[in-house]
Amino acid sequence: MSSRVESYRLNSLEIPPTYWLAALRDKCPAIQILKHYDSFASTVPSGRSSVPDMSEDVYSHGHHESVVRSHALRTAADSAAYLLPHLIPGRSVLDVGSGPGSITADFAEIVSPGRVTGVDREANVIAHASELAASRGLDNLDFRTGDIYNLEYDDDTFDVVHAHQILHHLTDPVAALKEMRRVANDGGIIAVREGDYGAMNWYPEAPALRDWMDLYQKIARGNGAEPNAGRRLLNWARQAGLTDIVPSATTWVYAAEPERSRFADSWAERILHSSFAEQALERGLANQSDLERIAEGFREWGQDPDGWFVMIHAEILASVQS
Ligand SMILES: C[S@@+](CC[C@H](N)C(=O)[O-])C[C@H]1O[C@@H](n2cnc3c(N)ncnc32)[C@H](O)[C@@H]1O
Repeated sequence: MSSRVESYRLNSLEIPPTYWLAALRDKCPAIQILKHYDSFASTVPSGRSSVPDMSEDVYSHGHHESVVRSHALRTAADSAAYLLPHLIPGRSVLDVGSGPGSITADFAEIVSPGRVTGVDREANVIAHASELAASRGLDNLDFRTGDIYNLEYDDDTFDVVHAHQILHHLTDPVAALKEMRRVANDGGIIAVREGDYGAMNWYPEAPALRDWMDLYQKIARGNGAEPNAGRRLLNWARQAGLTDIVPSATTWVYAAEPERSRFADSWAERILHSSFAEQALERGLANQSDLERIAEGFREWGQDPDGWFVMIHAEILASVQS
C-alpha cells in the first residue's frame, strides 16, 4: 500500500476547517483531533493533496446525538460476523461510511498490526470516531473524511473494503460498490451488510410503528435512496461487476430487556429531534402532533413484555479478481 504524504502535515494550516468545527461542536479536546490528524496523514496516498468534494446525497438519519449514540453501540461481532473469519492479522482494512467507528475499532484490534482506515463524509462523526480510537489506544487505526463515490486512494490499496449500512442511503449504490472495488487489492475482499426496512417485522401490531415505517420509507425515497436495500444487495453487487459472491443474511432482534426499550426510546428520540423530524416536517409528511404520537407509541411498544422486533440484514462477501 502506498502511504507517503507530503501535504497533510500537522504543523501547517492545511488542516481543513471542518476538523476545527467538528472539534468545537463536539467539545472534544482539539489536541486529540490534532494527534489523530497526524495519524490520518500517514495513510494519505501520494499524489492526493486535498479532501475531495463530497457528494450531495442526503443522509436520511442525519447525525443527531441520538443517532450517533445508537450507532456507536455496534460491534464487529454483532454487525460483521460474516466477515470475521477473513480478518487475519496483518491485513489492511478500509471501512467506508464508518460513522462513529465502533465496528472499525474492533477491526483494528483484530487485524493488528494491519492498518485500518475509517472514512465517513461527515467531519463531526469522524471527530467522534477519532476520539474513540484514542481512548482505545489503537495506533493502527485512523479516520478521515471522504466520500464513498470518490475515495482518495489509489487502485488496489486495501485487502478488505467494508461497508455497513450505507448503501441504503445512497442515490447510486452501484457506483459506490464500483469505487469500493477499485481500491481493493487483487485477491482482496469486498464485504457489505445492508438493512431492509420493508422486511422488518414486529409484534404487537402497534399503529405507531406502522406510521413510523411509512414515514421512513417516504423520507428515504424522497432522498432518492432505497430503504429496502437488503433484498437488492446481490443484484447491486453483480451490476457493479463483482463476481465470486457469497450472499448471506443475519438479524438483529429487539425483544429482551434492556435492548427492546433502549431501541424504542432511541427511535422515539430520533423521531422527535433528529433529521427524521426535520425532513418529515419540512416536506409536510407529518406535523408535530403526528411525530409526538408516533414517538409515544414507540415508547409504549418498548415497554410491552411481548414486544418483538426483527431487522433482517443482507450481506455479501466478494473475492476480488482482476
Ligand atoms: C447508518 S450510518 C452507519 C455507520 C457505521 N457503518 C455503523 O454501522 O455503525 C451511515 C454512515 O454513512 C455515512 N455516509 C453517508 N453518505 C456517505 C458518503 N457518500 N460517503 C461516505 N460516508 C457516507 C454517514 O455520514 C453515516 O455516518
